[in-house]
Amino acid sequence: MVAYFITGTDTGVGKTRTSASLIHALRQAGYKRVVGMKPVTAGCDWVERADGSGGQWLNEDVVALRAASSLHVPSSFDNPYALPAPVSPHIAARHADTVIDLAHIEASFHALQQHADAVIVEGAGGFVVPLNEQDGGCETSADLAQRLRLPVIMVVGLRLGCLNHALLTQEAILARGLPLAGWVANVVDPNMAEQAANLATLQRQLRAPMLAHWGWDASARPDQLASSLRLP
Ligand SMILES: Nc1ncnc2c1ncn2[C@@H]1O[C@H](COP(=O)(O)OP(=O)(O)OP(=O)(O)O)[C@@H](O)[C@H]1O
Ligand SMILES: [Mg+2]
Repeated sequence: MVAYFITGTDTGVGKTRTSASLIHALRQAGYKRVVGMKPVTAGCDWVERADGSGGQWLNEDVVALRAASSLHVPSSFDNPYALPAPVSPHIAARHADTVIDLAHIEASFHALQQHADAVIVEGAGGFVVPLNEQDGGCETSADLAQRLRLPVIMVVGLRLGCLNHALLTQEAILARGLPLAGWVANVVDPNMAEQAANLATLQRQLRAPMLAHWGWDASARPDQLASSLRLP
C-alpha cells in the first residue's frame, strides 16, 4: 500500500490536477486499486439522486478524484466532510453545525487503506489551513497529514510570490517530521515573469525531487498529464 498527502502553496494551485494525474500514473504503473480521498471539502452543490430517493452534497474535486480512481467507495470514506459553504473549512463546518474531527477522518483513511493498493489524499487549501478551532487552539491540515503519517507532495503554483510560499510550506512539512516526497511545478499565471529563474531557485532550495513541470494548459486531462509525472 502506498499513500501520499497532496498539499499546495495555496488554494487553487493545482492540487486536484496533481492528485488526479498521480492516480492515473499509479494505475499506469500497475497499481490496481487506486483511490483518491478528499477528507474535507468546503463548497458543494446539492445533487439529487436519479431515483428520487434524496440527494447529497457534492464537491467538484471529489468528482474529479472519483473519475480518476479505479476503486469506488461510499462518500463516508473518500469525502467524510462535505460542507456546503465555499469558505475556510472550520468556518464552513460551523455553518453546517459540525466540528471536523481528525480521528473520524483517520478512521475513514484506515478503512480505505485496507481496500486499496494506493490512496491519494488531497488536503484542503494550503498546508496549515485550520480544520477546527476549539478552546483557543486549532487543528490544521498539517496536523491531519501528521496524524495519517503520510509523505507529502507539494504543488507549487508558479506565480509571483510562490518562492516564499513554497519555502514556508517546505519548512512546515519538515518541522513536523514528515518526508517531502517531491514537488510539482504548475503554472497558474501564464504571464509570470522570470519563470525559468524562479524554477531554478525552487530546484536549488527544495529538498526533494521535482516530479513534474506543467505549463499553462486548460485543456490538459489528468490521464495525459500522468505521462509527464514522475512517481516519487
Ligand atoms: N497548469 C494549468 N493550466 C491551466 N489551468 C490550470 C492549471 N492548473 C490548474 N488549473 C486550473 O485552475 C483551477 C484550480 O486547479 P485545481 O482545482 O487543481 O487547484 P486546487 O489546488 O486543487 O484547488 P483547491 O484548493 O480548490 O482544492 C482549476 O480550474 C484547474 O483546471
Ligand atoms: Mg482541489
